[in-house]
Amino acid sequence: MPFYHKLGEIPHKRHTQFRKPDGSLYREEVMGLEGFSGIQSLLYHHFLPPRVLKVEELNGAVTEYADFGALRHRAFKTVDFPAGGDPVSARRVLLGNNDVTLGISRPTRSMEYFYRNAQAYEVWFTHEGSGVLRTQFGKLPFLPGDYIVIPYGTTWQMKLNTPEARFFVIESPSQIEPPKRYRNQYGQLLEHSPYSERDIRLPGELEVFTERGEFEVRVKVRNGITRHILDHHPLDVVGWDGYLYPWVFSIHDFEPITGRVHQPPPSHQTFQGWNFVVCSFVPRLFDYHPQAIPAPYNHSNVNSDEVIYYCDGNFMSRKGIDKYDITLHPSGLPHGPQPGATEASIGATKTEELAVMVDTFHPLNVAVNALELEKPEYMNSWLDGTGE
Ligand SMILES: [Fe+2]
Repeated sequence: MPFYHKLGEIPHKRHTQFRKPDGSLYREEVMGLEGFSGIQSLLYHHFLPPRVLKVEELNGAVTEYADFGALRHRAFKTVDFPAGGDPVSARRVLLGNNDVTLGISRPTRSMEYFYRNAQAYEVWFTHEGSGVLRTQFGKLPFLPGDYIVIPYGTTWQMKLNTPEARFFVIESPSQIEPPKRYRNQYGQLLEHSPYSERDIRLPGELEVFTERGEFEVRVKVRNGITRHILDHHPLDVVGWDGYLYPWVFSIHDFEPITGRVHQPPPSHQTFQGWNFVVCSFVPRLFDYHPQAIPAPYNHSNVNSDEVIYYCDGNFMSRKGIDKYDITLHPSGLPHGPQPGATEASIGATKTEELAVMVDTFHPLNVAVNALELEKPEYMNSWLDGTGE
């Protein structure tokens, strides 16, 4: 998150001697994006950061995509998505392109190892379950509705407080951040932004372990997973400061922007990445023009594929879509409310819908993993009635 934060003990001046109680030096690490040109933090470790006892190549991390076939709207039912494993191992990508991948994870246990994605930002939208993200920047407790934003290079481990959890996971080789148009030249969120810095939850309670032993860190990079065995605990940071760290924003803290007539999708924007946006549809009052039609107009996303993950409530413009479903409205084909949904929306004063939308500016591929979840009848859901 582009504002300054610090935790734990740090020396008065950067790059100067900072000593442990026994007189030996703490080890300084600069962790920054885009070489030394992006946001960065300075971390002070108990152990030398490059110390790795063993390295081992585990497996590839390339998603297999299916042939898209004829252009059509598609929907996927994830209610019965296979549960099991820890959050990282339970994750399956369902849709993706070179800019972003979208997946589901339904873990049934906590992680025993640590994980670092060195090639992508990750946003874990917590649909169900709760727990704690343990990181070298401190702890981040999370609850249903939380977007957990994890920058590349962060070493973390997720512990669950519930027997099961369900996440919608967004992974991108680009930085995922608040939209630029919500921020001033100093990075501060502006008055028209649907959330402010007070809604951002920062890492707290720095865990500092100085024990030795064997600790596993799985690193994702070069589209593969490498296992590193360290001879020290990976959470050995006694203090850090800077702009680069994981953070949490709850969808329930997104303040919806409403109007007399229907507000377009950018009013729901929550994050931006390279060639995609993330939007939040939250409970809100509907449009208040006396002749308003709260349901959206038909729209052609000419340069955009649109994905919606339905979390809760009754999504006003969709029929035949259930909680946990994912729809994909690809570019090249208009979409809009199903027959009857427009009329049904007239006179409604509010909605309780909760959904996460990702719009990508290049076409998305459908993963082989997603095919068995597909609702093939979805494309026909606009054919009821007279068609007028
Ligand atoms: Fe749409």
